Amino acid sequence: MIRSLIRLLRGRPSHAQTLNPLPAPTPFAAFATKPDVDVADLLGRAAVNLDTPELQRFLAGKTVLVTGAGGSIGSEICRQIMRFCPASLILVEQAENNLFEIDRELREKWLGATITPCVADICDAIRIATIFKAHQPQVVLHCAAHKHVPMMEQNPGEAIKNNVFGTKTVADAAAEFGTDAFVMVSTDKAVNPTSVMGAAKRFAELYIQSKNEGVENSTRFLAVRFGNVLGSSGSVVPIFKKQIAAGGPVTVTHPDMKRYFMTIPEASQLVLQAGAIGHGGEIFVLDMGEPIRIVDLARELIQRSGLRVEEDIAIEFTGIRPGEKLYEELAGLAEETRPTSHAKIRVWQLPPAEAQRVKKGLAILSDVVNGCREEAVIALARCVPEYRPDGVIRLGADSDGSETLRFSGGDESAVLAA
Ligand SMILES: NC(=O)c1ccc[n+]([C@@H]2O[C@H](COP(=O)([O-])OP(=O)(O)OC[C@H]3O[C@@H](n4cnc5c(N)ncnc54)[C@H](O)[C@@H]3O)[C@@H](O)[C@H]2O)c1
Repeated sequence: MIRSLIRLLRGRPSHAQTLNPLPAPTPFAAFATKPDVDVADLLGRAAVNLDTPELQRFLAGKTVLVTGAGGSIGSEICRQIMRFCPASLILVEQAENNLFEIDRELREKWLGATITPCVADICDAIRIATIFKAHQPQVVLHCAAHKHVPMMEQNPGEAIKNNVFGTKTVADAAAEFGTDAFVMVSTDKAVNPTSVMGAAKRFAELYIQSKNEGVENSTRFLAVRFGNVLGSSGSVVPIFKKQIAAGGPVTVTHPDMKRYFMTIPEASQLVLQAGAIGHGGEIFVLDMGEPIRIVDLARELIQRSGLRVEEDIAIEFTGIRPGEKLYEELAGLAEETRPTSHAKIRVWQLPPAEAQRVKKGLAILSDVVNGCREEAVIALARCVPEYRPDGVIRLGADSDGSETLRFSGGDESAVLAA
């Protein structure tokens, strides 16, 4: 019944159409009356307990700069920061429309607050230095990045430019202009990465850790890893909602695909809390609860939209895409991490980044940003030893520890040795 209604709304011929034509409806009319599903509700978790005095010490009266301020996480971090009365908030964002939206929203809500929108690319060192010089931010939340795994598999040079060198540019400016705290938003995809995106984020983590070792600056550099946030741009929930509204099918990559999920406010609040408690050099990880099967999430969303799985909306499996994992690895958390003063924030026990290795890695990566895909992937694999890209063979290490790697396809141009 619902399927034939959907067919009708899509304009396909059906028996019902010939018998009883409807007045021109919108394609979404069939579902317009269904209540919108609250994504926070899907997780069924209690609100995060925050150490408000600590956050006040961290943010109140401070000049705070957020990169990627118009994105899903950056914009929510801005909303959360405003609750703690910063002296001023600097919004750095390359997408003008995203910046326009968050700037307008914050100004409407916080009348009289000092908010400065800066259209800027984090890879533009001169522009970033000019902004830091003008505003002298005390706290930096670095959220700007490329994040889509399959997209970055096809554009590895861009992942390196934005996620590695963009991060370096902002971190260098923070050190130069005396920022107190620099918090890099990272991802669970940086844990034993299988993707270009994850490997680029892992190297960015190594860079900011190495910055922390630098004697010449007083900035606390730290990173916070977490899994997927529900409802962020381009993530499964908005995609599923669109697919449901269009009458299906809902597409899921694999029946066993699992992901850790948090709500955007939950993750954003905990990123700020980690920034407040960090001493510098830490890679924090947020307690994401139990991983959720994507297919269960799809079923739940279909049912909460008032529809029946398979009868009304079909679920289709499309297959894992390049760079994707079935499970993200926050699982061995208890062994590999230690607790902090906050119950939902742990810290990874990772060896500190060696400055020499990081410096060498930057040189390797800068040589390939505009090269071919194979060169960029191999360069990342040389800089991030735990990165296991598909099709790359490690041929062995020399006495100085440098590795020779190549694609199993035998493309000699992609053979590189340190
Ligand atoms: N969305 C998730 O589920 C999730 C989970 C864990 C970690 N993260 C991390 O959080 C960060 C932000 O993710 P998001 O979901 O908010 O992404 P998003 O795409 O919604 O936001 C990123 C924002 O950064 C901006 N940006 C990108 N490159 C820029 C540049 N060169 N200069 C200036 N601005 C730039 C974009 O225009 C965009 O507005 C990423 O680092 C991502 O890896 C995201």
